Amino acid sequence: APTRDRYRPRLHYTPARNWMNDPNGLIFHRGVYHLFYQHNPFGADWGNMSWGHATSTDLHTWAEQPVAIPCDDEEAIFSGSAVVDERNTSGFGDGSAAPMVAVYTSAYGKESSRPGIQAQSLAYSLDEGRTWTKYAGNPVLDRGSSDFRDPKVFWYEGPAGAYWVMAAVEAAEQRVLLYKSADLIHWEYLSDFAADGPPESVWECPDLFELPLDGDPERTVWALIVSVNPGGVAGGSGTRYFLGSFDGVRFTEQSTQPSTAPPREPSLRGSWLDWGRDYYAAVSFGGLPHRRVMMGWMNNWDYAAATPTGVWRSAMSLPREITVRTVNGHPRLIQTPIVPPAAQTTDATEVLGAAGSGRRAALATPAHGKVHRVSISATAPAAGTFGLRIGGPGAEGARLTVDPAAGEIRLDRRGSGRVDFHQDFPSIERAPLEAGERMDLEVYIDACSLEVFIQGGLATITDLVFPHGRDTEIELFADPSVVLATVEVAVLG
Ligand code: FRU
Repeated sequence: APTRDRYRPRLHYTPARNWMNDPNGLIFHRGVYHLFYQHNPFGADWGNMSWGHATSTDLHTWAEQPVAIPCDDEEAIFSGSAVVDERNTSGFGDGSAAPMVAVYTSAYGKESSRPGIQAQSLAYSLDEGRTWTKYAGNPVLDRGSSDFRDPKVFWYEGPAGAYWVMAAVEAAEQRVLLYKSADLIHWEYLSDFAADGPPESVWECPDLFELPLDGDPERTVWALIVSVNPGGVAGGSGTRYFLGSFDGVRFTEQSTQPSTAPPREPSLRGSWLDWGRDYYAAVSFGGLPHRRVMMGWMNNWDYAAATPTGVWRSAMSLPREITVRTVNGHPRLIQTPIVPPAAQTTDATEVLGAAGSGRRAALATPAHGKVHRVSISATAPAAGTFGLRIGGPGAEGARLTVDPAAGEIRLDRRGSGRVDFHQDFPSIERAPLEAGERMDLEVYIDACSLEVFIQGGLATITDLVFPHGRDTEIELFADPSVVLATVEVAVLG
């Protein structure tokens, strides 16, 4: 029988108890990474939305902190961001420390002063995020809308001036709205951005940031991130991105975007940040001037309320560093996971023997209680497939298949273990395989998740899996013609 808390991740953040969804207020300040998040302090289901809080100095180990901003009778505390107001533009500082300011969505209750309204509000902390005071003049930005939410604020400096910029959504209208402010309190409308999407979908949790192209700070690209639900590439919730420019007023999408859709997917504008089922509401850390690091909620609104994890519910993805590189003449986002150094690595390149036989072999058994990374680099003639079975015992498992002929990588979790807790959970995900000479794959295996980084992070697939039994088996398979240049298994942390 599964041990208690079989699915508690080792490396991915999850609160000790109770419900979590979106990462909020990601900020690095004075050597500490702050992860705030949508949290129900009173149960393992969505509700009583408040900002939970965890801190880390290395992005690998997290210490849960007391609830930062609790809900009350007037409002729930929906998603948003945090900034450190170094210049004390808000006036919230007391002269000793720069205030940390949370910009969150007030979701006003039925019995409140603004029934059914969503508007943007402020709270500030003068003690490194431990205790928070709500601004007496809340809300600071109210459009009278019931779907205006998820403010992401950053300090902009450019030809147009120097000021705070907020990206927020009119969720049901599928629009990102941009505003500016000198003091975080008074906001002026700048512009908005919309794109194609299914009519029933909502847009949530936008982010907007600048990245050096190919590492050159003189040539930059702006990325606009938006989470969509439903209408995600793999069904339900998903995260899209658009690349372009931002002139301090307006985000303009680059006209020539590469087609990154696998053959079966209708092509939309922009691309997908992740091709799996469980990477949503991803936003980036503020306070890291030379680095862009994102985290997402590792779940999907289709079945989030039903995942079989016990007293806690939902984990965050691994933190991912984001860069932008020119690939085949087009700028593309590259994602690199941030993980602790390997405690142990095994060279398994020869485990299947020479090419030519029908091949499968165990890579690591059992893999209980530790996070494993399997790295594979291979060349395959057009018809050769290879991949991993991850699960156990016996034939059970998620199957990850690299299929150059189909131009895709598939993750089939229909047989991955517990899948019957929700009818929408069993699924097959597909990411485009932009085949070069060599195919590179990195798979991170934690207690209830798989994260696949393809071709050095050009595409990713993130999926929850809930294997039966205590141990996870990792098995490698390859068609006779596939040449495995390297196979390495690492135990992390
Ligand atoms: C996204 C979201 C946000 C909202 C929050 C409420 O998952 O729906 O739009 O602010 O969750 O918990």
